[in-house]
Amino acid sequence: MRSVYLRLSVHDGCDLRCLYCRPERDRSLEDPSPELAVGELVGLVEALDRVVPVRKLRLTGGEPLLRPDLLEIVGRLHSAVPRAELALTTNGGHLARMAAPLRAAGLSRVNVSLDTLDPEAYRRLTRGGGLGRVLEGLEVAAAAGFARLKLNTVLLRSLHAQGGMLPAIVRLAVRLGAEARFLELMPISVAAGLQRTEFLSVEESAGTLAAAFEDLGWLPQESGTARRRAYRVDGAERVVGFIPSVSEPFCGSCDRLRLTCRGQLLPCLRSEDGLELAGPLRAGQADELTRRIRRVLESKCPPEALWPGRQMSRIGG
Ligand code: 5AD
Ligand code: SF4
Repeated sequence: MRSVYLRLSVHDGCDLRCLYCRPERDRSLEDPSPELAVGELVGLVEALDRVVPVRKLRLTGGEPLLRPDLLEIVGRLHSAVPRAELALTTNGGHLARMAAPLRAAGLSRVNVSLDTLDPEAYRRLTRGGGLGRVLEGLEVAAAAGFARLKLNTVLLRSLHAQGGMLPAIVRLAVRLGAEARFLELMPISVAAGLQRTEFLSVEESAGTLAAAFEDLGWLPQESGTARRRAYRVDGAERVVGFIPSVSEPFCGSCDRLRLTCRGQLLPCLRSEDGLELAGPLRAGQADELTRRIRRVLESKCPPEALWPGRQMSRIGG
């Protein structure tokens, strides 16, 4: 690999409990190993960047905005790997307060998870979350001058197969100057049990949008994992992203690595066996650190890997 896209889970706690992401009581989060401090996070990213250039860095969780030192993390990563594009995925609940400072600290892209615009359905899906705060956060983020703002919707049959929710999300994205992206539900941990009843494919949801807007067809695949399709929405051409992670896995072209907030480097979302980097980093064993990073890079993505029991929120959705 000539470069990597690192997804960095800075905090594995979350203030929501989405049905497809977390069990109601989250015992596995009572992890005794400590979260990496800012300096350690930055040190690990620098160590990785010395082995293979980091082209893109996405801060994820859990919910990254719950980490009190997030602005410092963004600022220091921005100086440590200035050519890496700096992105963040959030549930949006704290974005109204944080969007402008994050932009000022060097963050360039934001993805906000938003699966429904119905406050009652949002409350049920997130087990208690408030939709109003997310919508407010989106307005502030749209005005904050990020290079890209995206709405991420996990496709769920009960919410999106009928009833006009997908077109409504596309219209909201258009109004915000954002891009709507629809992701297939991956059978990870608690979501495995929902797969039979809730899975909705990219193909079917693209058809749902075609019934609401004029369908202009698929665009040529550029890079990355999204397939993009154009629709005419209220007279203008709009692009919608689709991520068919289940129906068309992109393992062959994947250059992603994941670093957990406790210092484990994982070669793949489906992999159970990452390597622990915090120990050698704290002991100042630079050679051992490099050796482990190389080993993870070599073990990247056996295509036949199975989806694991591990929890999405712990490995940086
Ligand atoms: N399949 C697809 N996306 C998921 N996310 C969490 N769990 C899953 C899953 N099983 C998404 C969230 C959010 C990001 C953190 O990961 O909706 O957009
Ligand atoms: Fe939190 Fe995101 Fe998981 Fe929902 S999907 S519980 S917002 S980490």
